[in-house]
Amino acid sequence: MAPLRLAVLASGRGSNLRALIEAQERGVLGARIVGVFSDRPGCAALALAREHGIATVALKPADYGSREQFDEALFSEIAAIQPDLIVCAGYMRLISERAVQRFQGRMINIHPSLLPKYPGLHTHSRALAAADREHGASVHYVIPELDAGAVIAQARVPVRADDTGESLARRVLEREHPLLVQCVQAIGEGRLALAGTQVRWRGNLLDEPLSLNDRDQLEETT
Ligand code: GRF
Repeated sequence: MAPLRLAVLASGRGSNLRALIEAQERGVLGARIVGVFSDRPGCAALALAREHGIATVALKPADYGSREQFDEALFSEIAAIQPDLIVCAGYMRLISERAVQRFQGRMINIHPSLLPKYPGLHTHSRALAAADREHGASVHYVIPELDAGAVIAQARVPVRADDTGESLARRVLEREHPLLVQCVQAIGEGRLALAGTQVRWRGNLLDEPLSLNDRDQLEETT
């Protein structure tokens, strides 16, 4: 099977992008990153992509009259590289409905909470404020509603009594990296796909998201 053509959207530090690049360079991603796209021209994720010889495009939202116009321009650039899959890896902008629909079923996002808990921002402090005993990260298909598409897989992290927002964020981020890599790999190998509004895994529709186990493998949640 030819490797998936991957477009990555990022706005910030780019540690999830780094995990994808490292997996690609180790030959275990099952995908090739053909472009990195951003709304923040100076962000670290873009510099990282360039260091690894990956094509980048950054457009500034302030140069466009509306969210729709910006997305039209950015997603036309993305379409031009003909991606099979778009990965939002720390892309901090809402994406307009039209752009999402254009790539429905071919766009995934990584979010730092156990969705459907805590869509949106400040997920770690919200988990602490709620005294949750468990927190984590989710990879899901993107639909127009924020952080609400079918959840593919989750990584769970126990919350410690002495956790701060920073310590919890750090431990969740460590699990985000293998989670995202495993999801991209599974899609690239044809083990995972979207079927209507549900996730199909090894031919079966999932009622629950997959879990990332201690060996960094995806498995069905029992
Ligand atoms: C991650 O926590 C991701 O889940 C969220 O934004 C953060 C991006 O981190 N969507 P990085 O830029 O990949 O380091």
